[in-house]
Amino acid sequence: MAKEAVCVTGANGFIGSWLVRTLLESGYTSIHASIFPGSDPTHLLQLDNSNSNHIHVFEADVLDFDAVCKAVEGCSGVFHVASPCSLEDPKDPENDLLRPAVQGTLNVLQAAKRFNVRRVVLTSSISALVPNPTWPPNKVFDESSWTHLDYCKARHKWYPVSKTLAEKAAWEFAQKHGNGNGIDVVAIHPATCLGPLLQPALNASCAVLLNLLQGSKDSQEYHWLGAVHVKDVAKAQLLLFETPSASGRYLCTNGIYQFSDFAHKVSTLFPHYPVHRFNGETQPGLKACQDAAKRLIDLGLVFTPVEDAIRDTVESLKAKGFLS
Ligand SMILES: NC(=O)c1ccc[n+]([C@@H]2O[C@H](COP(=O)([O-])OP(=O)(O)OC[C@H]3O[C@@H](n4cnc5c(N)ncnc54)[C@H](OP(=O)(O)O)[C@@H]3O)[C@@H](O)[C@H]2O)c1
Repeated sequence: MAKEAVCVTGANGFIGSWLVRTLLESGYTSIHASIFPGSDPTHLLQLDNSNSNHIHVFEADVLDFDAVCKAVEGCSGVFHVASPCSLEDPKDPENDLLRPAVQGTLNVLQAAKRFNVRRVVLTSSISALVPNPTWPPNKVFDESSWTHLDYCKARHKWYPVSKTLAEKAAWEFAQKHGNGNGIDVVAIHPATCLGPLLQPALNASCAVLLNLLQGSKDSQEYHWLGAVHVKDVAKAQLLLFETPSASGRYLCTNGIYQFSDFAHKVSTLFPHYPVHRFNGETQPGLKACQDAAKRLIDLGLVFTPVEDAIRDTVESLKAKGFLS
């Protein structure tokens, strides 16, 4: 039976490209790849080895509702991936991060409602779960945690604010327009995503590993729970779309642990790089847990070992000339 037509926003980014690849490998033959106007889709089109025109490119700023509608029309599923993904301090938080994240999500949901989309898989983030200083110490973080907005705003951590406000807006929208009115939202919360870059540019999460290999002392204090292979994220996004009973929030990480433990692992795997040795806890009080993504594990997802994710990223960073 033919698979349903689906739309992927942010299709040419790091996660979006892996999702398009996974959809093709899973037999999806009508993929609306929505990309930022003027951005290059060449690497995406090359993913379609069969040259069967399974990928249809739509240029849409997610802030442009009419353009989003054109990308979503005719689809039964929408994977909303597009959102500015940068851990740097933005010059203009409202316009650089918050509006595209929040209004972009609302535009995608509104378009999905207009065209009777069966399900929207929303790419949220661990940054909508943490930092949360009200979380009980020594309790393993799970999907019931929400990032503390005032805490982040006071520290100018605008990326977690953008992801949290966007997800809250999505649930509010779903609640208002759900219950048979045709909008079903499921959210996924990836940790720091690693793996081969299919896109030409360096993305923020692979830059975390690149910087670490180059001696950065940034402890990722506010942006860390663990790491996950990007191919597992794409598989999980598809699993959440294809599993009718899926609902709510799904943490997607291969374990929870300190960034200092991650750095130690990287330095053991690649001893010739000047990886900083962090003393003590980089995420004070963070309780480690191997099977933190229990909800996805219960749906059958098997996580790739983090060592493989690190090796795959390093190999790719070298092949693309980002790392010598
Ligand atoms: N990578 C991670 O570790 C991680 C972890 C958790 C959640 N996430 C989430 O996953 C999603 C994708 O992240 P990524 O790692 O794949 O980063 P990425 O490579 O930077 O991808 C982000 C994509 O969003 C697009 N985009 C940004 N603003 C847009 C706008 N106004 N209109 C249309 N498209 C827009 C970007 O297009 P251009 O680049 O062409 O402008 C890019 O294709 C984001 O929602 C991010 O918050 C990422």
